Amino acid sequence: MIATERLDLVLLTPVLDDLVEGRRDRAAEVIRAAIPDWWPDEHDLGFLRFRRDQVARDPSAGEWLVRALVLRETREVIGHAGFHGPPGVNALKDERAIELGYAVFPEHRGRGYATETVEGLIRWAGERGIHAFVASVGPENEPSLAIVGKLGFTHVGEHWDEEDGRELEFRLDIPGAAARAEV
Ligand SMILES: CC(C)(COP(=O)(O)OP(=O)(O)OC[C@H]1O[C@@H](n2cnc3c(N)ncnc32)[C@H](O)[C@@H]1OP(=O)(O)O)[C@@H](O)C(=O)NCCC(=O)NCCS
Repeated sequence: MIATERLDLVLLTPVLDDLVEGRRDRAAEVIRAAIPDWWPDEHDLGFLRFRRDQVARDPSAGEWLVRALVLRETREVIGHAGFHGPPGVNALKDERAIELGYAVFPEHRGRGYATETVEGLIRWAGERGIHAFVASVGPENEPSLAIVGKLGFTHVGEHWDEEDGRELEFRLDIPGAAARAEV
C-alpha cells in the first residue's frame, strides 16, 4: 500500500480476477473499500483484463501495475493509477524508466487527487531506485497536461496509440536522485 496525504493506493493485482469476473463484492472485501456500482465500466474492464494477462505472463510485474485510489476518510474507491509495467515498459523504451497511468472518477475530479497520486507513485518508485518517469497524454487532455506540466515533465516526442490516437510523450528525470543513490 502507498499512503499519500488523503489516499491509500491499494494494489489491485490480487483482485484482478475478481474484478474481471464480476465479483466486485469480494474485491471490495479484500481491498477494504467500497467500489462504485458502475465500475469497472466496459473500457476499464478491457484495461483490467489486459493487466491480468500481463501478470499471468510476468508475475514479477504485479507490484508495478494498477492500484485503487482509496479515499482514506470514507474508504471509497475514487479512481485507479499505477505503472504500465516494471522498469523498461514505457513509450520511450527506456529500460530505466517507468510509465505512469492514472484516472480519477468524474465526481471526484478537480480536488488534486490525481496530482497527489502521481507524486505518491513517483516517491514509491524512487525508493526502489527508479528516477525516470514517462507519461503519454492526449493533446486535448487539458487536466492531464496540467498535471505533467505542474510536476515538471518535459515534452519529448509523440506516438500514435491504436486505442487512444495521438499521444504526446512526456518525461521526468528526478535530478540528483540517481547520484544520491550511488553514494
Ligand atoms: C486527468 C485526471 C486524472 C485528472 O484528475 P484530477 O484529480 O481532477 O486532477 P488534479 O485535480 O490533481 O489536477 C488537475 C489539474 O488540471 C487542471 N485542469 C482541469 N481542467 C482543466 C482544463 N480544462 N484546462 C486546463 N487545466 C485544467 C486543474 O486546474 C488542475 O491543475 P491545478 O492543480 O494546477 O489547478 C482526470 O481528469 C481523469 O481521470 N481523466 C480521464 C482519464 C485520463 O485522462 N487519465 C490521464 C491519462 S494521461
